[in-house]
Amino acid sequence: MINKSTIPQVAYGVMNEVHDEEANLLNTLESLLKQEHIDTQAVDDSLQALLAHTQVHFANEERLMQEVSFPAQMMHQGEHMRVLSEMKHIISRWQTEQDTDLLRAYFLGSLQEWLMLHISTMDTITAQFICAHKDCA
Ligand SMILES: [Fe+2]
Ligand SMILES: [Fe+2]
Repeated sequence: MINKSTIPQVAYGVMNEVHDEEANLLNTLESLLKQEHIDTQAVDDSLQALLAHTQVHFANEERLMQEVSFPAQMMHQGEHMRVLSEMKHIISRWQTEQDTDLLRAYFLGSLQEWLMLHISTMDTITAQFICAHKDCA
């Protein structure tokens, strides 16, 4: 479970709210994957909700970077694209293989590690730049 107090806080509050929501969705998935009898439909729904949220999360940051002409936008956006395609790949594998270990390893392991690192680096720098160039209140 992601303890939300451990999520790095960036300079722009709106971005922090989105990161909190993402952590909630990951924690919901984790609860579903902990059950003795896996509810496949609930897991599917949870994955779709997570994917949809991640798409909006990334698109929103990309729109903000565009607005302020953030110099490292392409690099930041490239990371988003890489992770989104990885996530879609794991979800489609889950749909054919129904392997809960795969979901655990990715969504509760590598994706969470990536997310924390991404927030503490690229999102942090991006938020500082955004707030230096537009009203962040
Ligand atoms: Fe973010
Ligand atoms: Fe980001």
